[in-house]
This record gives sequence, C-alpha cells and structure tokens, in this order.
Amino acid sequence: MTRVYVEVSGESVALAAAEVAAAAEALGGRRASDGAGPSGTVAVDLPDEASAAALAGRLALARRCLVRRASGSEIEPWLRRAATDVGSASVRRIGRPSSGTHDPAVLRAGRAFAAAGGRVELDAPDRRFWIHSSGEGAEELFEEVAAVDRRAAAARRMPTLPFQRPVSLPPRLARAAANLARVRPGDRVIDPFVGTGALLAEAGLLGARIFGIDRDPEMVRGALRNLAHLGVGAQELLVGDAGTVEFSGEANDFDAVLTDPPYGRASSTGGEGSGAVVARVLPRWAARVRPGGRLVVVVSGPTDAPGREWTEVVRVPIRVHRSLTREFRVYERADVTTTRS
Ligand SMILES: C[S@@+](CC[C@H](N)C(=O)[O-])C[C@H]1O[C@@H](n2cnc3c(N)ncnc32)[C@H](O)[C@@H]1O
Repeated sequence: MTRVYVEVSGESVALAAAEVAAAAEALGGRRASDGAGPSGTVAVDLPDEASAAALAGRLALARRCLVRRASGSEIEPWLRRAATDVGSASVRRIGRPSSGTHDPAVLRAGRAFAAAGGRVELDAPDRRFWIHSSGEGAEELFEEVAAVDRRAAAARRMPTLPFQRPVSLPPRLARAAANLARVRPGDRVIDPFVGTGALLAEAGLLGARIFGIDRDPEMVRGALRNLAHLGVGAQELLVGDAGTVEFSGEANDFDAVLTDPPYGRASSTGGEGSGAVVARVLPRWAARVRPGGRLVVVVSGPTDAPGREWTEVVRVPIRVHRSLTREFRVYERADVTTTRS
C-alpha cells in the first residue's frame, strides 16, 4: 500500500473527506487511520502510487494527491538525486501561508535541486514539490503525483447541457455522490428519480451500467439527451412511477441506489407529498441492493433509514443553492459474509 495525502477543497471539508475515503475504497484502498499529513489533506492508503492518478481522475471535491518523499536532512539529497532525471520542478510551501521567496526551507530545497542540474520553474514545471512543517521545525518534502482536473466538472454544468432544469444537481456534487456510492466500472446503479440525469451521468462516467426512472416523460427524454451529450450510454431509462414500474431485463439487483428525490412541495410528484413518495419508493429499490452495496440519497427533510440491515455511514449537510441546504446521507447494506458469525 502507498500512503497518499489528498488535498481537499474548501466548500465542505466533511463531504470532501467522505468522498476521498469512499473513492479510495472503490480503488481497493482505504482511509488511513494514522499519520497526520499537511492540514487540509486526507490520508488514504492505495494499492500503489499509480492509483493516485485514478483517484484524482474520480474526485470532485479535491485538488491534488501528494506522496511524502523525504524529511529533515534527507530532503536536499533526495532533490539532488531527483534533479538528475527531472527537467524542471516547482517548490512551494503547503500547510501554512508561504513567506514567498523568503521561506528558508523552500529556498534551500530549490537551491539543492538547481545545484544538481534541475531548473526551478513555478508556472509549468515537470514536477511539483511541496515543503511542509510537521511541527517542531521538522520539514517534510511532498511531491504532487496527480492533480484533479477541476475544469472537467465545470464543463458538465447546466449551461453547457442540452436539457436544463433548476432541479439539476451540480456535477461536482453529483460526482461526490457517485463516489460516496463507491461506484466501480461495471456496477449496476439505479436512480429512481432521474430528473435531468446528473447523478446517472456521473455514475456512468465512472463506468457504471445505469438504470433510471422518472414519472415525467420530458425528464426522461431530456436526461437521455444529456447523457448522449456526455457520451454516457444508459442501460434502461423508464417513464413511470418508481414505486411500481419494472425494468424489462434482469435488472433486479443493484450495487448502489444513487438518488436525489423530490423535495418540498414539489409539483413534480403529481400531487403526492414528497415525503410519502420517498417512503414508498426508496425501500423498494434499497431492497434490491446487494449486501455491502450502498444507498446515497440527497435529502432535504427527515428520511428514515431504509431498513434494519442498513447502517448510516455518512451524513453531511451541504448548501446546494443559495437558499437551499440539503443533506448527503450514505447507508451501507450489511455484508452477510462479514456479519454472519
Ligand atoms: C429533485 S428531482 C431530481 C433531480 C436530479 N437529481 C437532477 O439532477 O436533475 C426529482 C425527480 O423525481 C421525479 N418524480 C417525482 N415523483 C416520482 C415518482 N413517483 N416516480 C418517479 N419519478 C418521480 C420528478 O419528475 C423529478 O424529475
């Protein structure tokens, strides 16, 4: 296992940390229970260093993945060795405000790198190094091994999609939700309240086979247009009441339910109270999730746990729009193989 420190972005640290942990698990890793890193980072153990790129490629609420390279007196020799096969590198301070060009540890590291033939380059370096003070003056050297492409999610935002509705979940939150579901390629994921398709799009981009339902035919047509625009193929998208409609094929067991149900006095329910719809529909699909699978639901009111075999693993409030706070809840279905004894 390789220890990777993921720098999370500011808007909801709790949600970002939960996203990192779940995404690491989807890649065969786990959140590290020991070992503090730079502030603002979440430590995970991944199968190997190459997995950091896969992790960064999945995450929505993070900036970069770092690996610790050296500490204390080992930093300068390490950078001198690195300079022999590196063209250019940046060296910056992480974890507290940098004193810029006057930061002695950063200057020493840069000089060591340059003295061995490397070129210090801040704008477009081949490699990026970070100096961190672990406390009591001890310095550590981290290297950025992967960066999150924050423009990718922005490119999937509403104004760029062919079908737009105000209910649409922003792609970064939808991606965080798909990560919380620990979606893996080939997984079967259902959203019984598809809307414009934001959640299924993110699950599909992570390689899931996606299934969805919406009672409004315009939503299903629109979601299909959005999915096609994003290059995501849907397994089956049905028009109908998610409490009764059936898929045609063998789609009766799922790895995850990922959904953002109707909320408030939603006219979209056809007159039924949104709480009543959720209470009727969610248990039906939760019951078809395999042991160990997850239910990720974005709620704005009280919602009951889906049943005794489910454990709540994450509950984080988040501001979706200026006037709307909702809660991300993640439940995990007991894995019979681990609970039998
Ligand atoms: C909050 S929206 C989903 C928004 C979606 N996450 C998105 O990003 O666009 C809830 C959706 O549930 C649908 N809906 C309401 N009652 C339903 C029911 N009984 N069965 C299926 N869909 C229903 C509505 O038509 C609406 O599109």
